[in-house]
Amino acid sequence: MQDDLLKVLLTEEEIQQRVAELGQEISRDYKGKDLVAICILKGAMHFMADLTRHIPIPLTIDFMAISSYGVGTKTSGVVRILQDLDASISHRHVLIVEDIVDTGLTLNYLIDNLESRRPASIKIATLLDKPARRAVNVTTDYNGFTIPDEFVVGYGLDYNELYRNLPYIGVLKPEVYK
Ligand code: IMP
Repeated sequence: MQDDLLKVLLTEEEIQQRVAELGQEISRDYKGKDLVAICILKGAMHFMADLTRHIPIPLTIDFMAISSYGVGTKTSGVVRILQDLDASISHRHVLIVEDIVDTGLTLNYLIDNLESRRPASIKIATLLDKPARRAVNVTTDYNGFTIPDEFVVGYGLDYNELYRNLPYIGVLKPEVYK
């Protein structure tokens, strides 16, 4: 798998340190609040697992599986819900846990969708932010790393469902997806 990478962008240590910091920040902000953390599958799975272990306040965890890309590296703008939440979020404080914000279309759709369920608040934690390709205006509240406009894999992020199991984040060689 390493042979398919141009370089390592974020090491395991860098990711773990930043995720711990985000966890502390979130714990401070949500102290005394009824928090539900929503993991956006599949990309945010590792981030969610590590982040929530750094949040020592009561919270519940739910999952939503969506598909925005299909196959390839370009967003389609069409978001499909493959698996919905188990529980109601009405009057609860929602933290969306995302892997990466690229064009912002996925998040924009998600926020609209979740807002219609009348939560007390919605905030966004994203491990990565790729602002270069933003197509809609979305504001993230907790941002792990701002990265350049390169296609990255690892730590949950995939290309054609592969590379999610890398413990670090790397830039995929363009010849792998061209
Ligand atoms: P957006 O709708 O363009 O913001 O795309 C969001 C989704 O696209 C993310 O949740 C990822 O699943 C996927 N994505 C965007 N950029 C990358 C990347 O560099 N590597 C892997 N997946 C990506």
